[in-house]
Amino acid sequence: MTATGEPILEAEGLVKHYPLTRGVLFKKEIGAVRAVDGVDFALGRGETLGIVGESGCGKSTVARLLCSLERPTAGSIRFKGEDITRLSGRALKAVRRNIQMVFQDPYTSLNPRMTVGDIVGEPYEIHPEAAPRGDRRRRVRELLDVVGLDPDYVNRYPHQFSGGQRQRIGIARGLALRPEVIVADEPVSALDVSVQAQVINLLARLQTEFDLSYVFIAHDLSIVRHISDRVAVMYLGRIVETGRDAEIYDHPTHPYTQALLSAVPVPDPGARERRERIILGGDVPSPTDIPSGCRFRTRCWKARERCAREVPALAVPEVFAKGGGPTAHDSACHFAEERRVVPPEDPGGPEAPQATVNGNGPG
Ligand SMILES: Nc1ncnc2c1ncn2[C@@H]1O[C@H](COP(=O)(O)OP(=O)(O)OP(=O)(O)O)[C@@H](O)[C@H]1O
Ligand code: SF4
Ligand SMILES: [Mg+2]
Repeated sequence: MTATGEPILEAEGLVKHYPLTRGVLFKKEIGAVRAVDGVDFALGRGETLGIVGESGCGKSTVARLLCSLERPTAGSIRFKGEDITRLSGRALKAVRRNIQMVFQDPYTSLNPRMTVGDIVGEPYEIHPEAAPRGDRRRRVRELLDVVGLDPDYVNRYPHQFSGGQRQRIGIARGLALRPEVIVADEPVSALDVSVQAQVINLLARLQTEFDLSYVFIAHDLSIVRHISDRVAVMYLGRIVETGRDAEIYDHPTHPYTQALLSAVPVPDPGARERRERIILGGDVPSPTDIPSGCRFRTRCWKARERCAREVPALAVPEVFAKGGGPTAHDSACHFAEERRVVPPEDPGGPEAPQATVNGNGPG
């Protein structure tokens, strides 16, 4: 689905730092985990924004901030133009109703001692105004039907369902309050590949049916491609590249995105052979000790002196700004250049080289 009109959800300068303490009785703050370190984006109504990045880059923290489950250290979140960052009491509750989360792990996110009917209907206990008591059972059955489960399953328990079915239960619960935004934190990562597509198709159908806007989080670029209108790539608490779906997949300009794309599974065997593999050296630095300048520089094969000195802004790089076209999208790199990691057609050229990384690989 494509976005229309005003953004429904916006993040501006979003920061979440967790204090790092030492000592048991007298806790002393010795630093901070910079889980989210300056994130900006706008989600259009009816749009899906995919957020992708390696484990620990801050995706779930962003999700919790967007759903007002935690307060940011700095920055703001706007819902339909209204700043919701510092709401409390009834106003906060009303916003929470409108922005719902679907969690990653359908095995642990459902209470094993509750029936499916009680799980899906639980949001009505927290927000009794959303549905009259006498009507809740009917609504729960309807929700099960909507997500493709037999409404007669209401009295069963989570362990009687497969992983994909459990995720459908989680989605039904997410829909109970008729939210306008759903933040889905790796909703298919724990599922078999064959089931992933079914759940993604279900989410796509529900988006149209319920007029939903999605933030869809994944660690793998291949998963978000089918559902996202736009994609944001995160590294160590920040977005490093963002643009429309085709801009990111077919015309990436940030080295980190190029490395992530080079690891994506390619179904076409011909393309797979020609695909360039970029293997990143070193580990992701700790979010308690983020490198100066460009935070990706310790793993970037193109890093130069300027990269240690200057933080690259997330903006359209100057070299691409004039020409317009698909490379003219935001990329936080001083030396951004297009590199098509997966060639679309057989170029008839020599086999792609294998890139090595950390200072000596091809650029
Ligand atoms: N409550 C907390 N206290 C301290 N550190 C935290 C807390 N929550 C998250 N972190 C740290 O913040 C960083 C980002 O975590 P987050 O869970 O947001 O990453 P993620 O991208 O969702 O990772 P994954 O792909 O593994 O789910 C990690 O280093 C994590 O250890
Ligand atoms: S700014 Fe420098 S270190 Fe960062 S991604 Fe670009 S080239 Fe690499
Ligand atoms: Mg996570």
